[in-house]
Amino acid sequence: MEPAISHSAKRRNSLFARIFRVGLISALTALIAAAWAQPSTAAGDAARGKYLFDAAGCLGCHTDIKNKGNPLAGGRELKTPFGAYYSPNITPDADSGIGKWSDADFIRALRNGVAPNGSHYFPVFPYPSYTGMTDKDMLDIKAYIFTTPPHKTVNKPHRTLPPFGTRLFVGPWKALHFTPGPLQPDPAKSAQWNRGAYLVRAVGHCAECHTPRNLLGAKKTDMDMAGTADGPDGGTVPNITPDRKTGIGRWSADELEDFLDSGMLPDGDFAGSDMGDVIDQSTSRLSKADRKAMVEYLRSLPAVDNRIEAKKKSPAKIKKKK
Ligand code: HEC
Ligand code: HEC
Repeated sequence: MEPAISHSAKRRNSLFARIFRVGLISALTALIAAAWAQPSTAAGDAARGKYLFDAAGCLGCHTDIKNKGNPLAGGRELKTPFGAYYSPNITPDADSGIGKWSDADFIRALRNGVAPNGSHYFPVFPYPSYTGMTDKDMLDIKAYIFTTPPHKTVNKPHRTLPPFGTRLFVGPWKALHFTPGPLQPDPAKSAQWNRGAYLVRAVGHCAECHTPRNLLGAKKTDMDMAGTADGPDGGTVPNITPDRKTGIGRWSADELEDFLDSGMLPDGDFAGSDMGDVIDQSTSRLSKADRKAMVEYLRSLPAVDNRIEAKKKSPAKIKKKK
């Protein structure tokens, strides 16, 4: 039997060892965290921002590709039942773009749909979805945008039907149909599901096209992702709820994941129109893990019986990644 003294000495020793180990580990953790946090100072992490910028599809909407407009210089026409809206210049040009914007200005635009001068943005800018993004993700996107070349392009005025052309109308609309704030994770669900929800709802803004709207342009909440014959530019948008007859309930998880990667439908046809752009510019550029997360979330949505006859074009010119 060992004497009591050596017993407590041993305990003290191991206690010291433990404190030392814990100290060493926390010092290392702090070092790693500091190194990790290095590029993402308050100004935002542009590389991380590029990934989110792609996932959010900012480029397609803010570039007048049809008329060979400069990247992010705006002027793309967006046809809606309320008239034609034109995306603004969001290059870092100080006069015609957003070069003078503060971080707070940028967050307020995406989170609240409010301009630096206090006026409301029309919800054709999908801030009702982007509002769910975190401040960090918004600022990383801003950091990336500010690394892109500035272009002097003056914004085109919208051509809309009254009262949809007046910003005064947007305030009351928002009061009724818009809830600002970052998406709250559901602790009852897996991390993968929550990541998927974040990518589908907030960043990928899938519901902006896939959820039908009422006469005032508000999304019908009981028809979430159930498709519409009055989609953007007057096109049809299919039902992507897991309904087996009218939605994509018969697709396997792999088929859905492949679709988001390559645009190929289970029948071998290819997604056309706006979805071709979403795949080309956004979902095909995501990591496999992120696509899997989106698939898990999409397959957990409530099934809605709503038949939409989708027009299919084949085959879309889908450029492969990078
Ligand atoms: C579906 C098309 C669409 C997408 C996608 C889109 N925007 Fe826009 N955005 C618009 C339109 C249209 C406006 C103008 C709204 C208005 O005039 O009220 C706008 C306005 C803005 C403004 C305000 C600019 C100013 O001069 O006041 C900023 C900033 C902006 N968008 C950034 C982004 C970012 C960042 C993304 C990606 C995360 C993005 N947008 C994605 C269509 C889009
Ligand atoms: C700008 C509008 C728009 C956005 C945003 C959008 N989609 Fe689509 N989506 C469409 C259109 C239009 C089609 C039909 C394409 C066709 O006719 O070939 C479609 C087709 C699909 C299909 C194929 C369904 C079928 O039965 O053929 C799936 C799945 C899909 N989208 C998922 C998504 C997901 C997930 C997102 C978010 C990351 C998303 N979409 C964002 C417009 C959009």
